Amino acid sequence: MIVRPAKNILGSLRLPGDKSISHRYAMLAGIAHGVTRLAKFSTGADCASTLSCLRQLGCTVRSENGAVEIEGSPHWRQPAESLDCGNSGSTMRMLSGFLAGQDFECHLHGDTSLSRRPMGRVMAPLRLMGAEITGAEGDRPPLHIRGGKLRAIEYTTPVASAQVKSAVLFAGLLADGETTVEEPVKTRDHTEQALRAFGAELSRQRNRMTICGGQKLQAIEAAVPGDISSGAFFLCAAAIFPESNLVLEDLLLNPTRASVLDVLTMLGARISVINLDNRHGELVGTVKVEHGTLKGATIQGAQSVALIDELPVLAVIGPYTRDGIEIRDAKELRVKESDRIALVVKNLRAMGAECEEREDGLRIAGQQKLHGVEIDSGGDHRIAMAFTVAALGAEGESTINGAESARISFPEFFEMLEGVVER
Ligand code: S3P
Repeated sequence: MIVRPAKNILGSLRLPGDKSISHRYAMLAGIAHGVTRLAKFSTGADCASTLSCLRQLGCTVRSENGAVEIEGSPHWRQPAESLDCGNSGSTMRMLSGFLAGQDFECHLHGDTSLSRRPMGRVMAPLRLMGAEITGAEGDRPPLHIRGGKLRAIEYTTPVASAQVKSAVLFAGLLADGETTVEEPVKTRDHTEQALRAFGAELSRQRNRMTICGGQKLQAIEAAVPGDISSGAFFLCAAAIFPESNLVLEDLLLNPTRASVLDVLTMLGARISVINLDNRHGELVGTVKVEHGTLKGATIQGAQSVALIDELPVLAVIGPYTRDGIEIRDAKELRVKESDRIALVVKNLRAMGAECEEREDGLRIAGQQKLHGVEIDSGGDHRIAMAFTVAALGAEGESTINGAESARISFPEFFEMLEGVVER
C-alpha cells in the first residue's frame, strides 16, 4: 500500500464493531440457550476465526453483512478436525476456557505468528481446574485439550491479561463451585459485562472476580459498539494535523478501553464526547477530535495495560509532539502478533527518527521530521495501520509492506481513511 502525506483529517465515520466484544458475544452465544442476534459484528478475520471454530463445534452460525446469528448449545460437539484460530490469540485463549469444560478432546492451531505466542498463561489455570492441556514446545500452539469435569479454583494471574481472566471465568462457568480470578492490574472488563448481559451473575471485589459454576445463559440481541482500538488510528491521525476535525459515531467508550482519549487530551488534542449510551453494560458515544498543540506524555503502569493495543499508534505520533512520548511497563508488546517494540523502533528509525528501545518500552523524542520509506509491518495489523498514520505526516511517499494484514481487525481501514484524508 502506498501512503502519501496528508494535510488534515476531516469528516465523520462509524467504525465496524469492536473485536474484543464480538469475540465474547460470539463465544457466549455459542454456549447459551436460544438464538443470539448480533448487529455490527466485527468484520475482522480474527472474529471470523472465532465464528468458524464455533461452527466446527456444532453451533449454527449465520453471518451476512455484519449481522450474525448464532444458535448455541451448552454442550458442544467434538470437532472432526483441529480448530483453526488463524492469527487470533483471543480465539485460542478464550475458547480454551470453554473447551476445558467439554467432555471431549480437541486440537487448536493457528498461523505462524500465533504459533509463536505464549499459551502457558491459560494452560496453567485450566490444568489446575482439571483439564489436560499440552502445547507444542511446552506452551506454544498447537494445543491439545482433553476437557471434562472442572473444579472451581481461586487463581491470581501473574500477567495482567483480559484473555487469561476470560478463559478462567469461562471455565468457571462450567465448573462445580465458585471460581475466583484476581488480576494484578484491572484489564478490560468486556467478559464481565457480557456474562451479565447473557444472564450470568458474578461478583467483583476490586480486581477479584467470582463466578458460580452451572449458571445457564440466555441468548441476547445486541449491536456491537464501534471498535475504539480501530478508532485510535483515526483519532491519532486527526490529532497531528492542524485544522483536523473528525467525528467518530457509535464508538465504544468503556472506561477500561478508552484511555486513548485521556492520553490524547493530556497531549493537548481537543476532544469532546456526546450522545452517551449504555448498551448491555458497555458505554457508547460520539467522539469529536480536533487538533491542539501536542505536548508530550509518559505512559506507564496501569495505563500501559489499558492501552496495550493503542501503544503502537501512540508511539508513532511521538515525533509530531513537542516533548515526545515515552512508554514503560509494556513488555507484553513483545509477545503480540509481532514484537511490537522492536518493529516500532525499527520503522521509526527507518523514517529518520531517533528513538531509544527498552526491554519494556521505548522513548521517542518530539519535534522530529519523518520521511517516507518502505515500512516492514511484520504482517502485524496494528503495525501496518500505525505506520500508515506516521506516513500521513511524513515527507514523501511511504510503502506499507504487508498492509493486507489490516484485514485481521479492520479490513475497511484504508478505504475509510481515504474518505477523511485531505491532501
Ligand atoms: C484482548 C486483550 C489483550 C489485547 C488483545 C485483545 C481481549 O490481550 O492485546 O488484542 O479482547 O481480551 P491480553 O489479554 O493478552 O493482554
